[in-house]
Amino acid sequence: MLVLVAGSSGLLGRALVAELRAHGHQVRKLVRRDPATGDEHRWNPPAGTIDDAALDGVDAVVNLCGSPMTPGRWSHARKQEMKDSRIEPTEVLAEAVAERGIGTLVNASGIDYYGDTGSAVVDESVRAGNGFLAELSAQWEQATQAAEDAGARVVRLRTGVVLSDRGGMLRFLKPLVQFGLGAKLGDGHQFVPWISLPDHAAAMRFAVEQAVLRGPANLVAPNPVTNAEFIRRLGSRLKRPTPWFVPKAAMRLVLGSDAVEPILNSHNARPKALVDAGFTFRHERLEQALSVVL
Ligand SMILES: NC(=O)c1ccc[n+]([C@@H]2O[C@H](COP(=O)([O-])OP(=O)(O)OC[C@H]3O[C@@H](n4cnc5c(N)ncnc54)[C@H](OP(=O)(O)O)[C@@H]3O)[C@@H](O)[C@H]2O)c1
Repeated sequence: MLVLVAGSSGLLGRALVAELRAHGHQVRKLVRRDPATGDEHRWNPPAGTIDDAALDGVDAVVNLCGSPMTPGRWSHARKQEMKDSRIEPTEVLAEAVAERGIGTLVNASGIDYYGDTGSAVVDESVRAGNGFLAELSAQWEQATQAAEDAGARVVRLRTGVVLSDRGGMLRFLKPLVQFGLGAKLGDGHQFVPWISLPDHAAAMRFAVEQAVLRGPANLVAPNPVTNAEFIRRLGSRLKRPTPWFVPKAAMRLVLGSDAVEPILNSHNARPKALVDAGFTFRHERLEQALSVVL
């Protein structure tokens, strides 16, 4: 297949491009700067433009765009950028998919879609929750509508916490644990819906290839663990004790209530759509994933 990838320079995008190419697919990349290689094409999401040639003969579009949601206090301007950098590019790509009659759009979204769901088991039938990230995720998914209306197969990837040594949550957490500062957050009871980067890339390829998968899909491993268990296993892998805890109130005070959502909200999420469609995980247990990615 010929696959056009937006957000290909990011952690998930780089892994997807490698995965697709390793399995015989052709990849084109959309970039916001001047193209540097033959497989790159220019686009400008705020202006709503895509180099025409980028779309010729494309079988599927994958959208992994978005400004970083890194820890720290989230100002109003930063939150607006988080929204604009996701919703605008998605609308532009969905319109292009509709206009050019492209068969498939695989679009990033987040497990934060569900809001804080406590210990309840969450599959794709659960409705959107409350909070900044839940509302952003719902709008992000809604931005694919033009493609769906035109008859394209749209897959909405509700990605959990992707585990990799090269980026994402572990890039922040690993040095803390290595310095002996590994701590559970709050009471540590909140569920962490993790997935290994290799499984995430494989699941995205599966979403591109398998016509049976459409609509929302939780990209999380089948066995989420609590935050306390996650920190304990990470400490054990890195051979460091993790006796500390950070009170929730202190985190809210320092970071603000929106920025703590991705770390304090609980998602006991399951990959029902993926499993029902026949996807098999390589790393079903956290210990396996940590031993591979660290
Ligand atoms: N990593 C995770 O654990 C995780 C979990 C859930 C959801 N997600 C979502 O999945 C997507 C990809 O994640 P990632 O970890 O690969 O992120 P990343 O490493 O930060 O990469 C983000 C990509 O988005 C592009 N981008 C940034 N701002 C943009 C804008 N204003 N317009 C268009 N493109 C823009 C960047 O391209 P340039 O090179 O042009 O800047 C880059 O290729 C993000 O939307 C993220 O929120 C990630």
